[in-house]
Amino acid sequence: MAKKGAIIELRDVWKTYQMGATTVQALRGISLQIFEDEFVAVQGPSGSGKSTSVNMIGCLDLPTKGSIFLDGKDISKLSESELAQIRGRRIGFVFQQFNLIPTLSAIENVMLPMTFQGVPFEKRRERAENLLKLVDMDDRANHRPSELSGGEQQRIAIARALVNDPEVVLADEPTGNLDSKTGAMIMDFLKKLNKEGKTIVMVTHDNNLARKAERVIFLKDGEIVKHLS
Ligand SMILES: Nc1ncnc2c1ncn2[C@@H]1O[C@H](COP(=O)(O)OP(=O)(O)O)[C@@H](O)[C@H]1O
Ligand SMILES: [Mg+2]
Repeated sequence: MAKKGAIIELRDVWKTYQMGATTVQALRGISLQIFEDEFVAVQGPSGSGKSTSVNMIGCLDLPTKGSIFLDGKDISKLSESELAQIRGRRIGFVFQQFNLIPTLSAIENVMLPMTFQGVPFEKRRERAENLLKLVDMDDRANHRPSELSGGEQQRIAIARALVNDPEVVLADEPTGNLDSKTGAMIMDFLKKLNKEGKTIVMVTHDNNLARKAERVIFLKDGEIVKHLS
């Protein structure tokens, strides 16, 4: 069983990708636990397995070998639709490329995930307005992504990640496409969310940002090489 308080545990997780004749060992026996209310940073060189690990933590992907436990339950025993429910309700994702839908306005982008959870229109709109206020973007609600700066798009993406009130927010290099000042501001938003009770796991290249996390996991060649807390 997972230790009490661990929301997610990876236990000896291996991930192998087969690319024609080539086998890529993306993860080689990763074991880690993510506890309630933590702020964890994941660092490591490009190709070290950061995104693969975070996708495992987010139940977006299953390991080739090893186990993932959510609240102490082995997720390999869940059906695909149960996993989709968990992802939709308990986990929010933020990506380096923002991944906003270009044809939708800021507020429509934020409302979209609630559509899949069957939330009525008026409720979706009200919740999206509140979240846009939270990230100081309520005055840009009707702008398309192309009319917003990178930092503004990422704030919209953070608002979108929060719509279903997830316990865990996973951010894969959320500041990777931003200048350092804007990146620091995004980090401040994530810190604020953490203080309000969200568990945050953030991949970053930036030592200055990683230092602001409570705990840093260093990956190299698909293995955890260092763990600072
Ligand atoms: N879908 C995939 N198919 C094949 N190889 C992949 C795939 N995703 C990742 N990899 C490989 O797995 C390794 C780890 O990738 P990734 O987790 O994206 O690293 P990071 O996020 O640290 O840059 C890399 O060698 C990468 O090329
Ligand atoms: Mg990556």
